[in-house]
Amino acid sequence: RNVQIISCPFSGGQARGGVELGPDHVLEHGLEKQLESLDWTIAPTKSLSFPEPASDPDEGKLKRPNFVGSSTKNVADTVAAALKAGTFPLTIGGDHSLAIGTVSGVFSQHADACLLWIDAHADINTPQSTPSGNIHGCPVSFLMGLAEPCPPQFAWVKPYLKSNKLAYIGLRDVDPGEREILRKHNIAAFSMHHVDKYGIGKVVELALERVNPDGKSPIHLSLDIDALDPEHAPATGTPVRGGLSLREACYICEALAETGNLVAMDIMECNPALGADAQSVNATIAAACSVVRCAMGETLL
Ligand code: ARG
Ligand code: MN
Ligand code: MN
Ligand code: MN
Repeated sequence: RNVQIISCPFSGGQARGGVELGPDHVLEHGLEKQLESLDWTIAPTKSLSFPEPASDPDEGKLKRPNFVGSSTKNVADTVAAALKAGTFPLTIGGDHSLAIGTVSGVFSQHADACLLWIDAHADINTPQSTPSGNIHGCPVSFLMGLAEPCPPQFAWVKPYLKSNKLAYIGLRDVDPGEREILRKHNIAAFSMHHVDKYGIGKVVELALERVNPDGKSPIHLSLDIDALDPEHAPATGTPVRGGLSLREACYICEALAETGNLVAMDIMECNPALGADAQSVNATIAAACSVVRCAMGETLL
């Protein structure tokens, strides 16, 4: 069991500074040692750097398309290389546009994979439907090939992700255009309403039934820290009240670890610049490390 941590200090997919500091904070919290104690062998952490293009005009509504396009391509290649080397890519963001890269990298190596997207948001806006122009609200639409026409900066992204291989858990802030897309493509979307109604255990079971009915698909977990309630993870750019408890988020990760099919994980959107005080930043980073450990085999007993 070898893990390749990929540090991605990137904030180009949204407007709030500080999310590029997330990876260093998570690493300074001792994540590598924590994973070692779970019996993982740690490859030397790869820290990507993301050079800003000299010019980056909006592409329609999309902001910083050149920066996000080239940066996510770099991430895709790095994740693919980690898998080829037989390691588990653990990507630490940075904003969630990075998942254009992580998911592309994983599906290039595991065409039959499924994607669990744990988030308050669906991040499936198209270049047309985006209300903000922030690309961190759009990665899933690029991955599914829903952006028509595809902006040139993302022409390299292959539409690997099929609607029946994607499931969401934790949704509670979905834009009107996104709601339409989720319905039209019959995507497995479990909101906080479903978590309340069925309980987290059943929701994970239902989600896996939808995207991995025969239990054989490799699983990629992409976790936005804002899936957690701001009580547990306040230091993030787009917090939404009424979210997952720390235990519910940990449970999701534990259940995915138990399948034995997890092949990659992203932990995204920790923004240490946005905590009200040091304690709320620390709680957020600690929560991020907790969910990662749970996904990577930590158990309570
Ligand atoms: N739906 C909003 C948008 O498209 C918010 C997206 C938030 N995404 C995130 N990765 N935190 O702008
Ligand atoms: Mn989110
Ligand atoms: Mn997100
Ligand atoms: Mn709750």
